[in-house]
Amino acid sequence: MAFSEEFLEELSRRNDIVDVVSAYVPLTKRSGSNQFGLCPFHGEKTPSFSVNTDKQIYHCFGCGKGGGVINFIMEIENLSFPDAVRFLARRAGMAVPEDDHDPDRGKRARMLELNREAARYFHAQLMAPTGAPAQEYVRRRGIVSMVKPFGLGYAPEGWQNLTDAMTAKGYTRQELIDAGLARVGRNGGLYDYFRGRLMFPVIDVRGSVIGFSGRILSDGEPKYLNSPDTLVYSKSRSLFALNLAKKSKSGYILLAEGNIDVVSLHQAGFDSAVASLGTSLTPDQARLMSRYTTEVIIAYDADAAGQKAAQRAIGILQPLDMKIKVLKIPGAKDPDEFIQQNGPTAFRELIERSGNQIEYRLEQTAAQFDLGTDEGRVGYLKAAGKLIASLPGSVEREIYGIRAAEKAGVSKDAFLGEVARVRRQNAAAARKQRDREATAPLRAAQPQSRELRFENVRSAMAEEGVLNLLCRFPEQFGSLPLAGADFTSPALGGLYEAVMARVRQGRSVSMAALSQQFSPEELTLLAGILQHDEISAAAAQQAMGDYIDKIRAERDKAARADDLRGYAEKLKQTKGYGS
Ligand code: UTP
Ligand code: MN
Repeated sequence: MAFSEEFLEELSRRNDIVDVVSAYVPLTKRSGSNQFGLCPFHGEKTPSFSVNTDKQIYHCFGCGKGGGVINFIMEIENLSFPDAVRFLARRAGMAVPEDDHDPDRGKRARMLELNREAARYFHAQLMAPTGAPAQEYVRRRGIVSMVKPFGLGYAPEGWQNLTDAMTAKGYTRQELIDAGLARVGRNGGLYDYFRGRLMFPVIDVRGSVIGFSGRILSDGEPKYLNSPDTLVYSKSRSLFALNLAKKSKSGYILLAEGNIDVVSLHQAGFDSAVASLGTSLTPDQARLMSRYTTEVIIAYDADAAGQKAAQRAIGILQPLDMKIKVLKIPGAKDPDEFIQQNGPTAFRELIERSGNQIEYRLEQTAAQFDLGTDEGRVGYLKAAGKLIASLPGSVEREIYGIRAAEKAGVSKDAFLGEVARVRRQNAAAARKQRDREATAPLRAAQPQSRELRFENVRSAMAEEGVLNLLCRFPEQFGSLPLAGADFTSPALGGLYEAVMARVRQGRSVSMAALSQQFSPEELTLLAGILQHDEISAAAAQQAMGDYIDKIRAERDKAARADDLRGYAEKLKQTKGYGS
């Protein structure tokens, strides 16, 4: 029984490991993205069993058991892999595809085809004379040259244009309804869901058309109409224009609110703009972005609602360890209007001048304390001091420090003194951490499973390091001067080959994707390796180089030792020792 990778990914997405595990294990402690509880697989009194929401893995620091959500169910329910998959599918209310005759797989493929046909139809309508109102509209909005790259279209006025066109191509009533393209009218007939609208196809990172947004051309309501969630479309897990933004070389993703903002930004040369699809940013969307970038620049609307949404987005992005900037857009209601008024260069300057999220975080911090009381002011100063101490530039620290001091009504010197104290503390902690990292290996233990025992623990630690970095920052390592055969541990070498092959193809390296290819023991090993996140994205290149050097050095050492042993044998033979 082999399951498709997409299915396993979807299965894991719909069975959040924290939800699944907490039905068996009360998770009582939290530390960052880890939650801890008593390990169900070995007796213990203090919690060493951890579940990580970001990585979607579990790992017991006590007994070493670990893996993804499917492994957890295999282990705790004592089920085979396919049965654990069926169990989780039932839990999430998903149909299990039975090999080739998976009813959903066929349906999904058909729906994607239908969506693509519909996108083609809308696009053709925009280009045709019928499309005059939409052509006029895109001209007025100044996005004519983006019609092609975005595959923009026009859903004409009228009740059955698309329905008729797709029916003629052999799509059934039910298929049109399921795809969210048509609805059943009072008389039982079908009518087009999108009418008289500029159509934005939503295209996923694989290039499939998964849904649509349609903007009304005049002032009517609703301004935007979005496809409902379907078998192939989940708004909360998709981002508009990520298919284009993922190719950007800019090094960041620009997150806007509106579709038009995104199109307008691309038109102005900001090719990494995306938008969430009529929802506020969700954790799934944030995770999706984190697969392609380490920096997000939020360019939401200038109004109060936009600023509030930006605050929320920061809260969602922060746990993913991404660099976050927030643009303030002066004198315009949104990025589109700003660019129309001031041009691309002015917008680029906004990006360059944009600070980090410090101002926002200071405001957030202030809101947590009652500054009318001494207690509140002390609390605020401590928290704000920590924030400001984390700023790299002394000028910034001074500016924001003064601001924060004023807010709390204390003297600037007292406050900057507090900042300096925190900085000394941080520096000492960082030094200690560096020393620990330099001397402490990534993982000093033999794997649980006897079959996987490491022959050369020193090299194996570096090999684990390579895997750790590769899985956590795949975008940084498109190719490496290292083959699976260079690994001293066959298990790690095998994992490396598989992960690297996927990275090269731009495919996901999630536990779910690997779960079928490797044994539970190997996945346990991998989960243990992924548990580590001491090394940041910024340090990853350097660390990777060090690991590779280490592996090479160990290999050379082993080769030299072999060589010498052989030489010793030879010496013995020629000199006739020991006989
Ligand atoms: P905006 O009203 O800011 O739209 O809504 P916009 O893209 O800037 O459009 P223009 O400039 O007024 O033409 C932001 C986003 O919120 C969602 C859409 O995704 C839109 O792009 N939205 C808005 C809806 O889903 N439905 C609505 O009725 C309005
Ligand atoms: Mn707008």
